[in-house]
Amino acid sequence: MKWLWSLIALLLGRGRRGAPAQVDRQRLIPEQPPSPRGENIVLALLALAALCFAAFVAVYVLDRLPDQTQLLGLALGLGFAFAAAACIVVSRLLVPVEEISEPYANEPNIAEVEEVEQLVDESGSRLTRKRLLKVAALGTGGAMGAAILAPIASLGPAIDPDALRRDGWRRGMRLVDSKGRPLSADHIEPKSFYTAFPQDVSHDELWAPLVVVRVDAERLDLPHGRDPRLWAPEGIVAYSKICTHAGCAIALYRAPLNEATSARPALVCPCHYSTFDPATGAQVLFGPAGRPLPQLPLLIDGRRELRAGGHFSNDVGPSWWGVRRGRA
Ligand code: FES
Repeated sequence: MKWLWSLIALLLGRGRRGAPAQVDRQRLIPEQPPSPRGENIVLALLALAALCFAAFVAVYVLDRLPDQTQLLGLALGLGFAFAAAACIVVSRLLVPVEEISEPYANEPNIAEVEEVEQLVDESGSRLTRKRLLKVAALGTGGAMGAAILAPIASLGPAIDPDALRRDGWRRGMRLVDSKGRPLSADHIEPKSFYTAFPQDVSHDELWAPLVVVRVDAERLDLPHGRDPRLWAPEGIVAYSKICTHAGCAIALYRAPLNEATSARPALVCPCHYSTFDPATGAQVLFGPAGRPLPQLPLLIDGRRELRAGGHFSNDVGPSWWGVRRGRA
């Protein structure tokens, strides 16, 4: 506790009285020569640290460099290493080391507090460019803070949360396979499963991947308001490939050879086996998913190629925010 009292008294004392008088006081620490070399090293290390932290933010924001994770780790690690090296150099070359031991009094002693103040003041006597060093330290601290706070941006769009609810599909957008080849309605076989993407759009977009299947027209029973001519032309249906449970990719299609004795055809998520019926708007047949897969309306153009007929029927992706807002 004594050290705490001393610290509080020191801070309050400094705040009240301003800088202590330097005159008529005998030095406690012997005068030491300035160390321009030490200051230059500290300034260089602080500048390198700030540069590394700024690089971390830049790599994080760009988000498309190869080996992104390794670069982020390298930038952050080097930033902290340079900042630590700067602190070590300050302690070794710029701050005089003086050990004075004496018993503490029970109550804070003003004379002792002033002595500590004097020690602190004299500790900086080797610094000739205090203001520049302060600016460099503040700059490095700011860059470090920005690097630590930058990943908060990944928690979601704070200014426009509805961006999570929008998809990039537009009426007329062409469906292509993973190699960029247009998907033809004539090539969609029954009992088969196709993955499609919007043409010229990154496959990494959450809204981009689709599963496309052809269902038996007799089984088709889409939710109210979905006209089969737009939502299932020629029995072809397209759903978001992102599972509405926890976001895995729908990667299995159960298409029994003998439908009379087997369970009906279904899209299946391999993570926790949520099972969706493609003939009924991807209603959940089984598993933990809380809502159907979003469906995309389709058009078949003059060349028999598949194109989007508009936007998804509902939100793409895991239901967490929908559940929390009661909109699952
Ligand atoms: S992520 Fe699909 S069932 Fe869990």
